[in-house]
Amino acid sequence: MNIRPRRNRKSEAVRRMVEETKVTTDDFIFPLFLLEGADDKIEVDSMPGIYRLGLDKILKEIEGCLKLGINVFDVFPVVPEHYKDKTATKSFDPNFFYQKALKRIKSEFPEAAIMSDVALDPYNSDGHDGLVKNGEILNDETLEVLGKMALAQAETGIDIIGPSDMMDGRVGYIREVLDDNGFNNVSIMSYTAKYASAFYGPFRDALDSAPKNGDKKTYQMNPANQREALIEADLDIEEGADFLMVKPALAYLDVIKLLKDNYAQPIAAYNVSGEYAMLKAAGMKGWIDYDRAMMETLLSIKRAGADVILTYHAKEFALLTKGL
Ligand code: PBG
Repeated sequence: MNIRPRRNRKSEAVRRMVEETKVTTDDFIFPLFLLEGADDKIEVDSMPGIYRLGLDKILKEIEGCLKLGINVFDVFPVVPEHYKDKTATKSFDPNFFYQKALKRIKSEFPEAAIMSDVALDPYNSDGHDGLVKNGEILNDETLEVLGKMALAQAETGIDIIGPSDMMDGRVGYIREVLDDNGFNNVSIMSYTAKYASAFYGPFRDALDSAPKNGDKKTYQMNPANQREALIEADLDIEEGADFLMVKPALAYLDVIKLLKDNYAQPIAAYNVSGEYAMLKAAGMKGWIDYDRAMMETLLSIKRAGADVILTYHAKEFALLTKGL
């Protein structure tokens, strides 16, 4: 036995030296849910520890997170029912509270990178990511709305646009609208391989954005498919995406690895709401050691090839690793 792998595991010092993967707060994007009422704070029932926050509270949250080394934030709006309509008009209204909040956030924290979400589902009365006509999700008509939405968000000064809608051709369409209007510096993080997943449930609770009819299977990917992610990724690259995202993360580690092996662009993975909820629930019941399970989960996503991790654990991770 001249080869004994255990020698490289014999002490903490040696283990740390040969550690292949390290997760740090630099890897994270922290998703935040924005409420209209500036001072409001409402916990998401299915995501204990995660709150929907009004603008004042979000500003405080971001300030605290920056001190912990979290520098990138993805802001999602909680749109009250009375603002929703068939064509998602609030999504591109510069006076809507989301667009105004993005502007304020960016002006308060120019050093932070702010990502915004492009998709119709929080704003349209159908709860789908595209326009709905006779039960069908329209693709090309939806692009026009997505373009207007991306432009309204870019005008607030944000850094990264996140199209989470899965319409065909939207990255190229949005890129063109942005460039035509002088926003060639605004990045696009495409939700490249976004699967029709059961793990988005708690997020839809948080935003009250579940589809009113049907499911998202005509636009989000079939969980059974891996190679199809290459088609989506080729298109996104061709259309000008700066980052490729896989979503969810945990049940799709193979897809993260596949994209990592085939593309030079940074790969992002969205550790989604249902993944967070599972760990939380088991941890609260005392069935798993939550902190260790969280660290192992984030490590697995990075090890699979993610350069960037969107995760609700971001702040807890930062507090834990700083011993706070
Ligand atoms: C919708 C959107 C979803 C998420 C991000 N953007 C849900 C969906 O597609 O229904 C899910 C995020 C999460 O579960 O944490 N455009």
